[in-house]
Amino acid sequence: MIFDTHVHYDDEAYDEDREDFLMNLAGKGVGTVVNVGASINTAKEAEALSRKYDFIYAAVGVHPSETAGLTEEDMEWLKKASAYDKVVAIGEIGLDYHYDEPSKELQKKWFIRQLEIARETGLPVCIHSRDAAQDTLDIMKEEHAEEIGGVIHCYSYSWEMAKIYLEMGFYLGVGGIVTFKNSKKLKEIVQKAPMERLVLETDAPYLSPEPYRGQRNSSDKLIYVAEQIAELKHMTGEEVIQRTEENARRMYRIEG
Ligand code: NI
Repeated sequence: MIFDTHVHYDDEAYDEDREDFLMNLAGKGVGTVVNVGASINTAKEAEALSRKYDFIYAAVGVHPSETAGLTEEDMEWLKKASAYDKVVAIGEIGLDYHYDEPSKELQKKWFIRQLEIARETGLPVCIHSRDAAQDTLDIMKEEHAEEIGGVIHCYSYSWEMAKIYLEMGFYLGVGGIVTFKNSKKLKEIVQKAPMERLVLETDAPYLSPEPYRGQRNSSDKLIYVAEQIAELKHMTGEEVIQRTEENARRMYRIEG
């Protein structure tokens, strides 16, 4: 069954039909999803979804673009939330220099702080990194993230950098982008990376694969991502779904 390692089903894009939408996913080959928080509020929603639906697990954390105004009390909440056994990761956390705000210094501070929380709670991390390749890697090296583990979500950097993350024990999250015509670099990385370190992710509602590009994404559409990976790895789509499910369970430490 499909294991979607990164969704945002708390997003308003699902407000009108969330219940039906989620109930229908299982009938479309989706076995497990991890709903990832991006702020304290959405992390609370992620946790609530994981309590309501058997097949949904949660990651709790604050996205770099949402770090303005964070407090130590928020960190205490993260720690408390992570004690629930269906909270399987701290994320998404990292650096995003695409926009000027919040400042790099503030983003770094809360990235480091949340890596510490992952270490204290014994959970892996979901890393979001955009236009910040070197600073992300520098912090992860300094903080010994290889002892924490997790996934580089929506991997978008070079093969050289991917190799370093793979050596640190991290997994690479692959989603709809790999089906786009102009994704030559990512296709090469998928070819070169070991199969046991790839996991599927939608980042729903964003990043729908071809032929649904631009539409609201959903975990069942990962079949198109699996077919593309299968072509690159000379496997069947079914094998890709099975192998990536095993990888995701190992990564998030979910027994299955
Ligand atoms: Ni995301």
